[in-house]
Amino acid sequence: MKVLVVGSGGREHAIVSSVSKSKKVDKIYCAPGNAGIAELAECVDIKAMEFDKLASFAEEKHIDLTIIGMDDPLVGGVVDVFEQKGLRVFGPRKNAAILEGSKAFSKDLMKKYGIPTAAYEVFDDADKALEYLDNAKYPIVLKADGLALGKGVLICNTKDEAVDGVKTIMKDKKFGSAGNTMVVEEFMTGREVSVLSFVDGNTIKIMSSAQDHKRAGDNDTGLNTGGMGTFSPSPFYTPEVDAFCREHIYQKTVDAMKSEGREFKGVIFFGLMLTEEGPKVLEYNARFGDPEAQVVLPRMKNDIIDVMEACVDGTLDRVDLQFEDNAAVCVVLASKGYPVSYEKGFPISGLDRFDGEKYFCFHAGTAKNDKGETVTNGGRVLGITALGEDLKTARENAYKATEWVFFDNKYMRNDIGKAIYEA
Ligand code: AMP
Ligand code: GLY
Repeated sequence: MKVLVVGSGGREHAIVSSVSKSKKVDKIYCAPGNAGIAELAECVDIKAMEFDKLASFAEEKHIDLTIIGMDDPLVGGVVDVFEQKGLRVFGPRKNAAILEGSKAFSKDLMKKYGIPTAAYEVFDDADKALEYLDNAKYPIVLKADGLALGKGVLICNTKDEAVDGVKTIMKDKKFGSAGNTMVVEEFMTGREVSVLSFVDGNTIKIMSSAQDHKRAGDNDTGLNTGGMGTFSPSPFYTPEVDAFCREHIYQKTVDAMKSEGREFKGVIFFGLMLTEEGPKVLEYNARFGDPEAQVVLPRMKNDIIDVMEACVDGTLDRVDLQFEDNAAVCVVLASKGYPVSYEKGFPISGLDRFDGEKYFCFHAGTAKNDKGETVTNGGRVLGITALGEDLKTARENAYKATEWVFFDNKYMRNDIGKAIYEA
């Protein structure tokens, strides 16, 4: 088989790494890819939002399956463009990717079908939103409706902060048209868990759980980022939590989408908050999480192509999805200054020590310079993932491996996975 993966981050490197282990696959392309992906796949210079070019490439090269890693092309309808040409593609169509693309849509869906989530109101008029803030309870959460690189969520402790927040989202349009509509949501407390799943329209199969670390600094301080590290499984995702979510959240979401005429095929990512009243949905994503994929996929026993083809074909009920009884920790190596401003172009050394079996170095923001050296090319540069028989060992292995790699302005959090000692 020939496979095309669309995207260029650590998530896509993790996907390509799993695809490279498939017995069915003899050629992998990645558009646009990065310097690490280039070691396993032929990188093609087409951007993820160039749908027609991607589909023409897939036709020309007789690609058997295209896997879309990123949210923007999914929400923009890349799957529909592929399907119109009769090409096989893994991911939700535009009318289903709205589950991630519009927070107002997903909140209304949860309300209509009784899926547990925080209480909320939707506004498309800034003055009405401001009026609502007069009698609201604080803290309160403001969310731009559309995609905003994970940064369109503001937690406001006071009314003054919330008034500023409404201005930022709806008037100054800091997140562009994503802020034309806004969700105002009740603030919840509890532990967060990320649960990824494969979906074929009807059947849902749950992957092993993970926990992200969204803030830039140790002890959850500093700005929100795309994610500074992950571990899997989450010891807080107990069998009781799992049973609750299976009864009240997972299958209900798949059935709700089907009832709405928006059959979902691909990956649903459930961002959950384990509150005192039970698990509630914080958000849905229509794709693998990044860096969640970097700890979940290396633990998957199945051939990823078998599972993805079953999603496309509607035969997921026949798949026995299995994970190793081990653990993984991923520590992101970022450029100092991320997520605000940072320098790029520094050579990276130590990349040859990773075996791709127990120690993984997933590239996120890397490129090759004129001299053929691998250099930093983004805020999140590398995801250092290590396996271990348990979380403690995996964590020790991951932090040990972070010392193998060097580049100027290297920055990481030192407390990824520290929460496992509280379980
Ligand atoms: P989201 O993109 O909706 O997952 O939000 C990003 C982050 O904001 C989440 O991972 C939570 O840490 C936080 N957050 C979102 N919604 C709420 C809420 N209702 N209560 C408390 N924290 C929230
Ligand atoms: N790590 C969170 C996300 O991928 O959205």
